[in-house]
Amino acid sequence: MKVAVIGSGGREHALALKISESEMLKKLYIIPGNPGTAQIGENVNLDINNNAEILNFCNEKEIDLVVIGPEQQLVNGLADELRANDILVFGPDSAASEIEAHKTFAKNLMISAGVPTAKYIEFNLSMYDKANDFIKQKKYPCVIKADGLAAGKGVVICNNAEEAEAALKSFFIDRIFGKSGDKILIEEFLEGEEVSVFAISDGNNFICLPASQDHKRIGDNDTGKNTGGMGAYAPAPVVTTQLLNEISIKIIAPTLQALKAESKPFIGCLYAGLILTSDGVKVIEFNCRFGDPETQAVLPLLKGDFLKLLYSAAEGNLDKDSIQYNAGSAVCVVAASLGYPGQYQKGLEIFGLDEIPESTIVFHAGTKEDNGKILTNGGRVLAVTSVLEENDLQKAKKLAYEALDKIHFTNMYYRRDIADKAIK
Ligand code: AMP
Ligand code: GLY
Repeated sequence: MKVAVIGSGGREHALALKISESEMLKKLYIIPGNPGTAQIGENVNLDINNNAEILNFCNEKEIDLVVIGPEQQLVNGLADELRANDILVFGPDSAASEIEAHKTFAKNLMISAGVPTAKYIEFNLSMYDKANDFIKQKKYPCVIKADGLAAGKGVVICNNAEEAEAALKSFFIDRIFGKSGDKILIEEFLEGEEVSVFAISDGNNFICLPASQDHKRIGDNDTGKNTGGMGAYAPAPVVTTQLLNEISIKIIAPTLQALKAESKPFIGCLYAGLILTSDGVKVIEFNCRFGDPETQAVLPLLKGDFLKLLYSAAEGNLDKDSIQYNAGSAVCVVAASLGYPGQYQKGLEIFGLDEIPESTIVFHAGTKEDNGKILTNGGRVLAVTSVLEENDLQKAKKLAYEALDKIHFTNMYYRRDIADKAIK
């Protein structure tokens, strides 16, 4: 089978690596890929925002399955275009991707399907004065969110009316998110531990992968700015088998059913961002794709044939037995460039990549190759994942940090406390 993976981050490296283990695979392309994916397949430098260019390539190479990593290309309708031309795709079409592209759509869907989520109220651009009145009588903290895609930055947690006023102004007057901020949600603040659950869906049936936990803030003990994710571990022990079952029944199944009922069947990975409150598990957000860096912790734990799973989902005939998870732990630590998620330097040489022990995988996230050297090329540079056969997150954490000790680049920064919540 010939497979093309779309994207160039750590998530796509993890997807490509797992796919490369399949006996069904004959040829793997990664578009555009990175120096990590170049070691397991062929990188192809195409513009992934140009649907026609990708379609041409897939036709020319007779690609059997396209796996789309990032949300932007899903929202842009890349899956629609490929499916319309009889190419199998793992990844939802643009209508089903609305679950991530528009938070108001996701909220309305959840409310109508009875899926537990934070209480909220919606305001659009013309309701600036009303929104200002509303925040004056609100209980704090509260959460203000942009409706549209905002690269993970569209959420502001407000501790008092002044902060809420400033956030409202930034969305509606300063327009910091442009059209993505045409509508906002003002949402109840939920307290509890956050977990991520990936459901692989063929439009009708689904399976859940082991739950994981991301670390969104830049600093240890969840301090400082929000990032794309500074590390993850899996499985998350707070999500017992019983709780995962409950999440399947109360959250994933009704959401997929509601999408199907709206003629937006979801074929791909539905990512549920959840919070375990004292009042039960609730949804913070849905994404229409695998999470980054959670994928780099979850996929290495799976046994079986991952490509078979994705292919069967894309065909609309999910083979739930194609993968298994029995035991094992993984801890993924992101090595970033100092300054991220703000300004940072690029083009710094990375050393030590050939000294990594076998128990650890180094996923490339923001790197590039230059004359045989590997250089930094992004904020999140590497995702270093240790993988153990046994359930021992403490040992997995130790192995991940031992591997990180071998890697160096100028101004390398990483959190020291990945997985501590679970180890405690
Ligand atoms: P999102 O971009 O929707 O994933 O939100 C970013 C982060 O904001 C989440 O990971 C949570 O930590 C936090 N967050 C979002 N919504 C809420 C909420 N209703 N209550 C508490 N925290 C929230
Ligand atoms: N790890 C968060 C995300 O992928 O959105």
